[in-house]
Amino acid sequence: MKLKKIPLVVAITGKGGVGKTIITTLIAKAISKYFKYKLLLIDADPTHPHLSKMVNLTPEKSLEEIRADIIEKTISKKAQVQEIAENIDFEVYNAVKESKDFSLLSIGQPEGPGCFCPSNALLRKVIESISNDFEVVLIDCEAGLEQINRMVIKSVDIILIVTDISIRSVETAKSIKEAANKFSNYGRIGVIVNRVKGDFSNIVSKLNEYRLPLLAEIPEDGIITKFDLEGKALITIPEDSLSFQKVKEHVEKLLEI
Ligand SMILES: Nc1ncnc2c1ncn2[C@@H]1O[C@H](COP(=O)(O)OP(=O)(O)OP(=O)(O)O)[C@@H](O)[C@H]1O
Ligand SMILES: [Mg+2]
Repeated sequence: MKLKKIPLVVAITGKGGVGKTIITTLIAKAISKYFKYKLLLIDADPTHPHLSKMVNLTPEKSLEEIRADIIEKTISKKAQVQEIAENIDFEVYNAVKESKDFSLLSIGQPEGPGCFCPSNALLRKVIESISNDFEVVLIDCEAGLEQINRMVIKSVDIILIVTDISIRSVETAKSIKEAANKFSNYGRIGVIVNRVKGDFSNIVSKLNEYRLPLLAEIPEDGIITKFDLEGKALITIPEDSLSFQKVKEHVEKLLEI
């Protein structure tokens, strides 16, 4: 498959607990196995940073730790401001952990109380600059609308909203689309319905009503539950598992712009 745009920046978002991190991991596996794009994963969830564990790749430092170091060096005057400014790119690149299949950058948790704005501003800048070194960037977002409202994922090509088979998660998808229309310059938006089992036609009707394109249906998969139970990294899920097969089948459609 030839990408229509490089880098292709894809945000995976949705209500809490619907399976954003699981879906990000399965898409990452499908891309690295079958398309070999130069792939960057961004764990942008400051409160539940689980992507590292799922894909078995943990950076030495998060972006927030790097930001805190820079602030500390500046305040304590351990280094000249000029020198610090010149090294920022280098420091950020150090936060990217590489493996043979993909790289990973973790946003981390802002230290102490206070406004998230500086973190988000940095995050937005880093996403914009670092993405240019990759072909595909997958961002596992924080639950809900915050990162869209705060324009963290302003320059994103594709927004994949994950829902489960609950109306509440579809209502969140609707709000995310409305926020994205206001605050983001996305190229395409669509929904992945996760944990599908039995009849979920009312979910499909709601998606139609809200004009949310349904891109893929991923089944409830006992292997995912088993991996969770054993604390195993989902990236090693067998290729013949139901959920991975479905993601693989749809990955080209998911990356279409
Ligand atoms: N297709 C599936 N089949 C079975 N279990 C699943 C499936 N998708 C997700 N789960 C389970 O649902 C739970 C939540 O998944 P996940 O952590 O990916 O959600 P999330 O949206 O990233 O959550 P958060 O909002 O906390 O970041 C996990 O325990 C996971 O194992
Ligand atoms: Mg998550």
